[in-house]
Amino acid sequence: MPVISASAPGKAILFGEHAVVYNRPAIAVPVNQVKAKAYVQANPQGQAGDVIIEAPDIKLVSRLKDLAVDHPLVIAIQGVQEMLGINRLPALKIRVTSSIPIAAGFGSGAAVSVAIVRAFSIFLGHPLENEQVSALAYRVDQVHHGTPSGIDNTVITYAQPIYFIRNQPFIALKVTAPNNSTKSDTPIPAFTFVIGDTGIQSPTVKAVSDVRLRWQDDPSSYEAKFDAIAQIVTEARHAIEQGHFENLGQLMTQNHLLLQEIDVSCLELDLLFETAIKAGAAGAKLSGGGRGGNVIALTETKKADIIASAFEKAGATRTIITHIYPTQ
Ligand code: PMV
Repeated sequence: MPVISASAPGKAILFGEHAVVYNRPAIAVPVNQVKAKAYVQANPQGQAGDVIIEAPDIKLVSRLKDLAVDHPLVIAIQGVQEMLGINRLPALKIRVTSSIPIAAGFGSGAAVSVAIVRAFSIFLGHPLENEQVSALAYRVDQVHHGTPSGIDNTVITYAQPIYFIRNQPFIALKVTAPNNSTKSDTPIPAFTFVIGDTGIQSPTVKAVSDVRLRWQDDPSSYEAKFDAIAQIVTEARHAIEQGHFENLGQLMTQNHLLLQEIDVSCLELDLLFETAIKAGAAGAKLSGGGRGGNVIALTETKKADIIASAFEKAGATRTIITHIYPTQ
């Protein structure tokens, strides 16, 4: 029996988290060093309609029908069936694995949804288009996350750097290498980032709802902060498109300071932020929902290991060096 598989990367938000929920722009990049994978296989021993789900990373082995109706895997699988108009399934086994840290700002939930939707639709003989895959991953996020902007499912589905505004078609970013990059036959990164994980799991839904409460309390000051973040995102887009390394780093740091102001940072994130700057990063910021999760730092490629070991010494539970490459 052939096994159908599909995978999806993690992601990092480079600019604009939280403000993006309030219709400001944001920039996100895929993180290909971590992945979610889904495998779908017919189960000749099973009875028609019997779907067995295995997700060893979360110690889950269950029949689909025994999972709660709002379980993310149920929403993803039923979403594919609805979209394709397929009611009856053969006996199946669906296995999901993921190396993406959970609740850490890497988009693990959206990546699992994307991988399952892709593998399952291919298995059923009707591979869904990216737009449909992204829409289904968004639907799963909505159930678990209230008011998601849609940035996670979009960057993970399309697996490329994006400029994103809620409810608008995303823009694939043009990426230009800074001038000092030497030409070579092997692709040279335009920008290199080091991610340091605090190891603190922080549900995005909580950070997002706390920001909403404070915004409701003091809308004019929060709107001004979101506008300031939007201005940074606009300048950051330009810096990525023009290859302005130093400027991009400074903008990350400015964005972090605004995220502190909206109270989504924490001691551990601020420690990693300061560690990155002291170790020579061009700029750094928390990435994602905050209150835990990770800090992302921009660095010259040759200094990436130094930043990563500084993160580790400061208590990061994991570090990832990731790159974005020039577009043609
Ligand atoms: O999924 P996370 O933790 O990377 O955060 C998503 C970014 C937010 O802007 C905080 C929420 C959203 O829906 O965009």
